[in-house]
Amino acid sequence: MNKLEQKILQDGIVLNENVLKVDSFLNHQVDPQLMWEIGKLFVERFEGSRITKILTLESSGIAPAVMAALQLDVPLIFARKRKSLTLKDDLYTESVYSFTKQEVSEVSVSRKFLSAGDRVLIIDDFLANGDAALGMAGIVKQAEAEVVGIGIVIEKTFQPGRGKLIDLGYKVESLARIKSLEGGQVAFAEH
Ligand code: G4P
Ligand code: NA
Ligand code: NA
Repeated sequence: MNKLEQKILQDGIVLNENVLKVDSFLNHQVDPQLMWEIGKLFVERFEGSRITKILTLESSGIAPAVMAALQLDVPLIFARKRKSLTLKDDLYTESVYSFTKQEVSEVSVSRKFLSAGDRVLIIDDFLANGDAALGMAGIVKQAEAEVVGIGIVIEKTFQPGRGKLIDLGYKVESLARIKSLEGGQVAFAEH
């Protein structure tokens, strides 16, 4: 069991059969030491991928993604969920459906920061239905750059995200894989 899995067992709160609350170390308060370890694991899982940029989605993807970016010495880009006055034109934009919020949002990245030739590692905190990762992959495609893989901190294997991403040919690496949250208990899938 890695440190992340230990932390999930210790501090994760099973809200219901579909949702794990991890706001004490990932989604609200952040444990920087654990994030550093997570960054290291991502670097190992994608060794040899010649990554030039990391792409995540604000806000909860940023902490783990920046730690991987630091260790790879490449820039981190976080896709933005809201357009600001200073972020309007020259954007790559994708629509992302949030299953939990039941609404579509637009996620955007400035054209300045991604271009053909980039080799992009996508990182996110959770993999549930996979729509956030698909939106980010769509942005990379618009830039005519390459997705070298998708790194996930916590995957829920009982939801369809991985299947969708694998079917499209993406390499998916998740650091903790939860197969069930039934009975208020976290059960991990085999590695
Ligand atoms: P998807 O990311 O796979 O497409 O699934 P979904 O639409 O269900 O995810 C919506 C939001 O909920 C995302 O965060 C996602 O990371 C988060 N999420 C999904 N499953 C869980 C879970 O079991 N526990 C927790 N804590 N979060 C989950 P977001 O809206 O983008 O918010 P942010 O935290 O990144 O700002
Ligand atoms: Na989240
Ligand atoms: Na997220």
